Amino acid sequence: MLKVNDNYKKLPGSYLFSTIGKKVGAYAKENPDKEIIRLGIGDVTQPIAGAIIEAMHQAVDEMGQAETFHGYAPDLGYEFLRNAIVEHDYKARGCDISADEIFVSDGAKSDSANIQELFAKDSRIAVCDPVYPVYVDSNVMAGRAGTYDEKTGMWSNLIYMPCVMENDFVPEFPGETPDVIYLCLPNNPTGTTIPKAKLQEWVDYANRNGALIIYDGAYEAYISREDVAHSIYECDGARTCAIELKSFSKNAGFTGVRLGYAVVPKELMFDNISLHHMWARRHGTKYNGAPYIIQRAGEAVYSPAGKAQLKEQVAYYMRNAKVIYEGLKEAGYTVFGGVDAPYIWLKTPGKMTSWEFFDFLLEKANVVGTPGAGFGPSGEGYFRLTAFGSYENTRAALARIQAL
Ligand code: MLT
Repeated sequence: MLKVNDNYKKLPGSYLFSTIGKKVGAYAKENPDKEIIRLGIGDVTQPIAGAIIEAMHQAVDEMGQAETFHGYAPDLGYEFLRNAIVEHDYKARGCDISADEIFVSDGAKSDSANIQELFAKDSRIAVCDPVYPVYVDSNVMAGRAGTYDEKTGMWSNLIYMPCVMENDFVPEFPGETPDVIYLCLPNNPTGTTIPKAKLQEWVDYANRNGALIIYDGAYEAYISREDVAHSIYECDGARTCAIELKSFSKNAGFTGVRLGYAVVPKELMFDNISLHHMWARRHGTKYNGAPYIIQRAGEAVYSPAGKAQLKEQVAYYMRNAKVIYEGLKEAGYTVFGGVDAPYIWLKTPGKMTSWEFFDFLLEKANVVGTPGAGFGPSGEGYFRLTAFGSYENTRAALARIQAL
């Protein structure tokens, strides 16, 4: 008789955004007259930019002609896309990354969940707390997280790095040396980030301790401050200690299109083996590549027209971030983030838990957000709103919150 992967049985509840989806779905069913504004999951609302749509149309036409038809994509992704990534995301910022260190994928969510397959089962994993739940859940599924304590909301084998108001949401080096450190900067969920000098300290720490940093840069396009790094490879020594994951979801609206990439430098040697070699082996075995049409869409992200259109789209969302940030402040909330990221992180009012505030906001204002506790125990007492709604909905949501 089949025995299942027991680790799945340890996972409490469902994936955070599935739980929220179900709760909101039930409320909507019971209250069909209510107009619900969704500022929960970080899903984009603006249409794909014209330059990208044009490239997709062209690629669709190519697929309909024998001479320009494309079957399986090359293992690492098409060169036209990997070269564009290297030119614009790395060379332009003085980072030494070559096209054969880029692995094109269907997005940073899958990459951030899959990357842990490269590590031994007893590797010690450090995560920020609160954290994007995929890093934790994927390590639980692999049997690396130990047991869950319902009281503390913590896994016995994970190393937690609290990021709270008191430390300006900046993770501190853990007391116990980890093998792998997940960093998401600008941060999901807190919407905060750290200056390049601080990131350099993390790179030095990882190199000193033989640790690997998984650097999730999904929100890089939202950086506005000069002293914030756009890539971890802007730091000296990152090629020997960091894998960078990037997404086209938030900078180009590809949440429903699916495209991302991982950078695995060739210098990454651990346990006498190259992680680049291991990831190439895994990619070749388990993945047949993002579709040609989508990779052409990705290439158009870097075209002059694509870049100009996406700059406007990012500015559109950041205007929402400002509306939320300032609107909440005016209403007396304590607010963070929203300057280098499309997320606003607020303290829940009074002594409300983050799930209580979720229910309160849903029922009294018909606005959906994300409870901080869903991202980890140190997220309790906080709440996340996303700037990815439409401008009109964002303003309407804030007016409702202010009227509470
Ligand atoms: C979020 O809301 O945290 C993100 O949209 C989730 C994701 O990117 O998978």
